[in-house]
Amino acid sequence: TKYGTIYEAIGGYDTVERLNIAFYNHVAQHPDLTPIFPKDLTETARIQLLFFVQFFGGPRLYEEERGHPMLRRRHLPFEITPTRRDAWLECLEDALIEVEIAEPYRTVIYERITLTANHMMNTQE
Ligand code: HEM
Repeated sequence: TKYGTIYEAIGGYDTVERLNIAFYNHVAQHPDLTPIFPKDLTETARIQLLFFVQFFGGPRLYEEERGHPMLRRRHLPFEITPTRRDAWLECLEDALIEVEIAEPYRTVIYERITLTANHMMNTQE
């Protein structure tokens, strides 16, 4: 086990899984997001969990299955506007609170993912 990662600090796989479930419960209901996500989010959520585990410093599960993330490129088929970026981040913020991720990790995670989300925008309103 690696120490000193956000992954370890917040409680490892179980916590990241709970965060991911809470996050997708919001995504599934957000009117700005549902138009671009599949109706059945099972597979999307499964892959996102692999990614979050890796992103927070846990085992590199995403890369094992999907290769290099190339996230901006993988998002190009979807129109990601500033409004959709905000919606996605709102879902994440609500999930972080619901799962009771403690400070300073909640803020560290939110700020780091905000940078990635900004990078994902590819369309004006
Ligand atoms: C995939 C939307 C930001 C990580 C997707 C998909 C959509 C989407 C529509 C495809 C779902 C599917 O077909 O199953 C968005 C929107 C964002 C956003 C609207 C707003 C900025 C992010 C961020 C991250 C991320 C910030 C990472 C921190 C991923 C991953 C996948 C994905 C890992 C799966 C890629 C794969 O197929 O391997 N996203 N996304 N997304 N997104 Fe995002």
